[in-house]
Amino acid sequence: MKQQAGSLAGWAIDAAYGILKPLLFRLDAENAHELLAAQIERWQSTPPFLRALRAVCGGPERGTEVLGLHFRNPLGIAAGFDKNGRMIAFLAELGFGFVEVGTVTLRPQPGNPRPRMFRFPEAGALVNRLGFNNEGAAALVRRVESYKAGSADPVPVFVNIGKNATVPIEEASSDYLACYEVVGPVADAIVVNVSSPNTASLRDLQTAAHLTKILDVLRSARSRRGFNHPIILKIAPDLTDEQLAAIVEVSLSAADAITATNTTIDRTSLPEASGLQGGLSGRPLRERATGMMRRLRQLAGPDYPLIGVGGIFDAADARERIAAGANLIEAYTGFIYQGPMFASRIVDGLEPKRPHMKKERDYA
Ligand code: FNR
Repeated sequence: MKQQAGSLAGWAIDAAYGILKPLLFRLDAENAHELLAAQIERWQSTPPFLRALRAVCGGPERGTEVLGLHFRNPLGIAAGFDKNGRMIAFLAELGFGFVEVGTVTLRPQPGNPRPRMFRFPEAGALVNRLGFNNEGAAALVRRVESYKAGSADPVPVFVNIGKNATVPIEEASSDYLACYEVVGPVADAIVVNVSSPNTASLRDLQTAAHLTKILDVLRSARSRRGFNHPIILKIAPDLTDEQLAAIVEVSLSAADAITATNTTIDRTSLPEASGLQGGLSGRPLRERATGMMRRLRQLAGPDYPLIGVGGIFDAADARERIAAGANLIEAYTGFIYQGPMFASRIVDGLEPKRPHMKKERDYA
């Protein structure tokens, strides 16, 4: 009976999103996002709203332990959706097993000129060149603290950090460090973003020398400050096999996990976006991101934690990414196109944890 009421409510939410989506899609993509974020932030402060969401979208338990953390399910919301940590409670109640906030930079910054976010609905894709628009590390910390103080059962919050656009690449490691010092105390995991295509030269930091320097200063700060959260590296899909092998070699000793992938600058899978500068996400990224996950699993061995993101739209995509080697998965673009029931439907379609999961993964 309860289940029936839940699926009826789910159907009603789908129907409501079916009406709302075409209206939202008439607005500029970023304006629509901001409009919804402002509403969500307001509703989120009402406990009955959150309880109702949990009742409908909570999804089944698909508990997993990764990186020393417990996740009620392995699907997280990817970085960029909630850059400033304004919607953490809402996202958790929608059924995401963890929330990655950011990218946040030490100081607030406006990002690139608008328009800077574009939809390709038929392809299930987005192109963005936001450029780390965010309110800065201190504002984010206050919001994460308030989420944790207000939740009886908070989900892990990953904080994704980047470099301010005005900081030259040679000074990148001290800027990452300064940002880390601010957000470190509230982060269940830190994600080092060296893979956004929208900050000049950022992806040049994906060389072994730069990565070693950045990860070393962060790890020293972690032991000095007595934090025990994992430090994760987020990488681009546009890397040669040689570059990928070099990154894995550094990461095995200097990072606790790798997240793959960020958006792509390649337009082979969406030629109609070829004139548009920015990072492409969504369905056209899926194959590339899955292929990269398989390769990463081969390179990193069976036990190194990997987080898969890029083009996950449904439970089959999620299962495929896990089979390719991912311990956790994330999504952003699929959520925009599929709506509020996105996370609970995917989680529903995942296998309950079984004791020999590793043996069943396809590492080939
Ligand atoms: C992103 N993404 C992103 N990643 C990141 O590390 N920091 C960020 O600030 C952002 N910002 C951002 C904005 C927008 C509008 C989009 C669509 C994406 C990348 C995101 O986290 C993810 O890696 C890719 O989008 C691929 O996953 P999906 O969207 O195909 O599920």
